[in-house]
Amino acid sequence: MEGPRIAIAGLTKRFGTVTAVEDVSFAAEPGRVTGFLGPNGAGKSTTLRALLGLVAPTAGSARIGDHAYAELERPAAVVGALLEGAFHPGRTARAHLRTVAPLVDADDARCDDALAMVGMSDAANRRVGGFSMGMRQRLGLATALLGEPTALVLDEPANGLDPAGITWMRGFVRDFAARGGTVLLSSHLLGEVEQTVDDVVVIAQGRIRHASSLAELRRLAHPATTLVSPDADRLARLADDWPGSRLTSPHELVVAHADAAEVGARAFAAGLEVHGLAESGETLEQVFLRLTEEAA
Ligand SMILES: Nc1ncnc2c1ncn2[C@@H]1O[C@H](COP(=O)(O)OP(=O)(O)O)[C@@H](O)[C@H]1O
Ligand SMILES: [Mg+2]
Repeated sequence: MEGPRIAIAGLTKRFGTVTAVEDVSFAAEPGRVTGFLGPNGAGKSTTLRALLGLVAPTAGSARIGDHAYAELERPAAVVGALLEGAFHPGRTARAHLRTVAPLVDADDARCDDALAMVGMSDAANRRVGGFSMGMRQRLGLATALLGEPTALVLDEPANGLDPAGITWMRGFVRDFAARGGTVLLSSHLLGEVEQTVDDVVVIAQGRIRHASSLAELRRLAHPATTLVSPDADRLARLADDWPGSRLTSPHELVVAHADAAEVGARAFAAGLEVHGLAESGETLEQVFLRLTEEAA
């Protein structure tokens, strides 16, 4: 499978006087899971809905491969979507899929395949009204899979899932991307998708605050290390020789962007007696909060 590249460029959407998203640009690459992250009201759903042709942009564009969604000849064969959706409560899971199937050229066998893919074969004849949130999410995903798409756009897929459900969803999207598919999923919690995503796009108040690989975001959460030594002379010399370090007292040196191993090694090489070595720094969650709270 070769998923399309998804590219949002200069997307702005205003609802009356409310600017939901402003000049949003980012891409989701095939073979990778891209996390679209931001607090509630940040503009995630509006962006994903614009991508799927459900919201008309005020400005800018959203493309799936070479086309806008509306230009796709068989959209369901390209992109499967999971939105905060409504199911008819009286329908069974299988009946729900068979209602959607004709719209996406899927037959009854494909409906059952899709149920099997999300582990819901046993619930095929149960009514959706009695489903837990996790089962609804699975049925939503089965619906997205009906047209055998090579891209998945999932709005808050982890919402309402218990830990086992989150683990299952993670495995599912990781496998989809590993087979070459493109996955773009949103979440208001970084921790919920930290083990799922390869790339991170952070949005807050309608604007993109950060876009990079998850590994790069982790590097932003640099630790600083504090070194305590009784040897004020050698400590002062070490501070002089080390850009990024500063003495906070005659016996205490703080080194930015360095972990304890690096500082310990330099101290050892300088023949410095060490009485204390302590790392401090932001967790990934703190970096995420800082990115979303900073003024635009
Ligand atoms: N149909 C709409 N009419 C008016 N305002 C809307 C509409 N849809 C979204 N908004 C507003 O746009 C902003 C972004 O909403 P949304 O895209 O749903 O954010 P998120 O999915 O990140 O929680 C919010 O202020 C929301 O109230
Ligand atoms: Mg939303």
